[in-house]
Amino acid sequence: MAPVTNPFVYGEIVTAEAFADRETERDRLRRDLESGQKVFLISPRRYGKSSLVRDVLRSLARDGVITVEVTVAASSSYVGFLESYARALVAAETPVSRVRQWAADLLKAVRPEVRLEMPPTGDPSLRLAFPSVRSSRDAARLATAVFALPGKIAATRKQRLAIALDEFQAVASFDEGGVEHALRAAVQEQRAVGYVFAGSEPTLMERIISAKRPFYKAGPVIRLQRIEPAVFADWLERRFKASGLRPEPGLGLAIVELAGNVPYDVQRLAHETWDDVHDAGRRAATLDDLHATLTRLLSEQHAVFEESWQRLTLAQRAALRALVLEEGREMLSSDVRAKHRLSGPSSVQAALGALVKQDVVMKDGPVYVVTDSLFREWVARKTF
Ligand SMILES: Nc1ncnc2c1ncn2[C@@H]1O[C@H](COP(=O)(O)OP(=O)(O)OP(=O)(O)O)[C@@H](O)[C@H]1O
Ligand SMILES: [Mg+2]
Repeated sequence: MAPVTNPFVYGEIVTAEAFADRETERDRLRRDLESGQKVFLISPRRYGKSSLVRDVLRSLARDGVITVEVTVAASSSYVGFLESYARALVAAETPVSRVRQWAADLLKAVRPEVRLEMPPTGDPSLRLAFPSVRSSRDAARLATAVFALPGKIAATRKQRLAIALDEFQAVASFDEGGVEHALRAAVQEQRAVGYVFAGSEPTLMERIISAKRPFYKAGPVIRLQRIEPAVFADWLERRFKASGLRPEPGLGLAIVELAGNVPYDVQRLAHETWDDVHDAGRRAATLDDLHATLTRLLSEQHAVFEESWQRLTLAQRAALRALVLEEGREMLSSDVRAKHRLSGPSSVQAALGALVKQDVVMKDGPVYVVTDSLFREWVARKTF
């Protein structure tokens, strides 16, 4: 019998059968990219933006669209970003034998240094650098050339392109807004190129598309929501069954709820529970197993969580504990404040603001939720 592998995956981009639901979002994003729209995809962290984007790009690539994916936040400078973006564009579906010439032709105005590195193992990779860029005026000129590339590539190859700029909120840290102007001006000319700008810090992303900023009304905005709990739960149970473990009725929903229905946390809890049951050589996964796994995870993380807790001020600890017990609702009301002995609304507000800023807590509409569902459980069980 072939060894059975854990069907739940977290901490990396998931596609194909490890990817649940998102049918509507998939169709919509695909259609928008195909028709050359400039789409903004926004959600809190770990909701599944990158996975959704990867899934859609793959399906477009199968239909002959040239696809390019770049993580903006991976670059430490504006020029570094331009280099990695240019490299990804030039290399996209270009045979190795032609990539050097192609890069030189496309970018001749900005005098690139092009090298093809052939490691003894693995695939050859293209290195692109722009040593002549010294001043910010040079960088602006380079940006204009790089941002025009997708249009040139589409025209030369007579193919459509779909480009994903992931962690797009990081552009705000480059070069005071000049990037947004240059990029917006370039993309709006490119009818054959669809773009998706995906970003995880809702506030930063919301600011980028707000009035007075270059990307205001540049295209449709998709705000990725949580997966419907019943759908996610059903998917989990089917994955348990298909991998040979019989889930106790209600297990799927219990996982979704304990994990705060954040896709990453859901997969983590499912993965760890599956492992524990499988390692014990059993064929059924029960609610007790789930709770045993949760207890194990909490004790493994105890030191880390304790440190996070110690870092908070007393007012923040009190607000956090109240928030966990009240499930984040009505945090400023006099009832909640009296019940948990919190001080006046403005200092509670300040404490909540500080927790949000430290990414311990996030806002989901009017409700506050702890970003990490394990930390939430830890606070509920281990603090007073
Ligand atoms: N549709 C899905 N079905 C099942 N699990 C998913 C789905 N989308 C995301 N996940 C889970 O969530 C994790 C995080 O997904 P992903 O990296 O795509 O999110 P993200 O929104 O891009 O996160 P970040 O904001 O950190 O970049 C994945 O590793 C996977 O475990
Ligand atoms: Mg991501």
